[in-house]
Amino acid sequence: MKEINWKTKFEPFKIKMTEPVAVTTYAQRLEALKKAFYNPFNIPAEKVTIDFLTDSGTGAMSQTQWGAMMSGDESYAGAKSFYRLRDVITLITGCKYVIPVHQGRAAERILMGVIASTKPAQTIVSNAHFDTTRANVEANKMEALDIPVKEAYEFGKAAPFKGNIDIAKLKKVIKERGAKNISLVIMTVTNNTMGGQPASMANIRETSAICKAAGIPMFLDCARFAENACFIKQREKGYANKTPLQIAQEMFSYAQGAWMSSKKDALVNMGGFLAFREDTTWTQKSREALILGEGFLNYGGMSGRDMEALASGLIEGLDENYLNYRLESTRYLGEGLLKAGVPIINPPGGHAVYIDVKKFLPDFKQENFPAQSLVCHMYKMGGIRTVEIGTLMFGKRDAKGKWMAADMELVRLAIPRRVYTKSHFDYVIEVMAHIAKNKKDIKGIAVSWAPQALAHFSAKLREVK
Ligand SMILES: Cc1ncc(COP(=O)(O)O)c(C=O)c1O
Repeated sequence: MKEINWKTKFEPFKIKMTEPVAVTTYAQRLEALKKAFYNPFNIPAEKVTIDFLTDSGTGAMSQTQWGAMMSGDESYAGAKSFYRLRDVITLITGCKYVIPVHQGRAAERILMGVIASTKPAQTIVSNAHFDTTRANVEANKMEALDIPVKEAYEFGKAAPFKGNIDIAKLKKVIKERGAKNISLVIMTVTNNTMGGQPASMANIRETSAICKAAGIPMFLDCARFAENACFIKQREKGYANKTPLQIAQEMFSYAQGAWMSSKKDALVNMGGFLAFREDTTWTQKSREALILGEGFLNYGGMSGRDMEALASGLIEGLDENYLNYRLESTRYLGEGLLKAGVPIINPPGGHAVYIDVKKFLPDFKQENFPAQSLVCHMYKMGGIRTVEIGTLMFGKRDAKGKWMAADMELVRLAIPRRVYTKSHFDYVIEVMAHIAKNKKDIKGIAVSWAPQALAHFSAKLREVK
């Protein structure tokens, strides 16, 4: 008999607890959208059928994680839950000095504050800073410079590692500005800002070598390190027989430190950490900033039970069956959309599918916010909540207050972990196929009111007649 090893690509888990999703009528959705001023951030979650707003903190925990929470040690100092978490983080990252925080941006606030206090007016270079990372760099009066590879901007063209840093540009920046003016190089894995695309091991290794030669520390912003490791296993020569943990360990071995928004690949709803390989001035100052702003060294921004769930989630998030399912389900949604006539950033990333709205709606008037118009239409037609990455999000206005078109008009469908099944994805694909055939029904959007900063979160919008 020939043995068959079935590849489990979908849902390597059973469902033990359920949560209802809203099944709504067109009239109900229209009313909810109007009440929300055409801004889905204002729609109550219970009126959303499929919530693709974000993959951050929206995943489902396992029975192991819920079970571990019961043994959370809530001692203020020396909690065993902290030591368990520290040991798991050290196993994966090789970093012995662990600072627990409540979420990713707390780690960024601490680290960027420490860097700016030791060396003001510096440049921080990255394959692409995530919004909160950039905001924390700039809040500390430093410059955040993105140097992704050029393939990252070629949305329709597939390439395996669009999340890479541009090595030639990195060398040029170091030469032109001088290594002493660059405090840090950040490899964001996967590269969220550029479509959740992975960085290759070769690119991480080479970046590390260049930084080492120039005396610049390199850190990983590792919110989605496990998805990145799985992409390396699937796409990079020499890694097919390595485990995701072994690959992750190699990725981290090239860095002097890392921080994580654990709300992503660590499968928890809240949590994070900052970790250092050596006990340096940055490490010591970060400990001081932790106590000042988050909490004591052994819990920071988390309770003992949070640290238990996180320690378990970090291990589970590296499970190969889970990771195969995760990347496969994102790919399934992306390819389903492509087949339905919806152009996307190709190939799909790890955690999200991005619709290329400029290509989808080439004749849509730019001043009518094409991506936000599609976001609203997707809710109206199918109760699907997504987010605009375009003119509203980038929010630049001229001196007269007129909105200036952003370079990209994207709609992001971010996929919560272990939450939706294949039938939910099929439903989304069906709704999108209908939208693709009836594009003329999509109404433009105008801004009634918007705050000066971060407009997309709270802007009040209206439909254009
Ligand atoms: C790459 C990356 N870094 C940092 C953050 C910030 O983390 P948090 O939302 O936990 O503060 C995020 C959140 O989406 C992210 O994707």
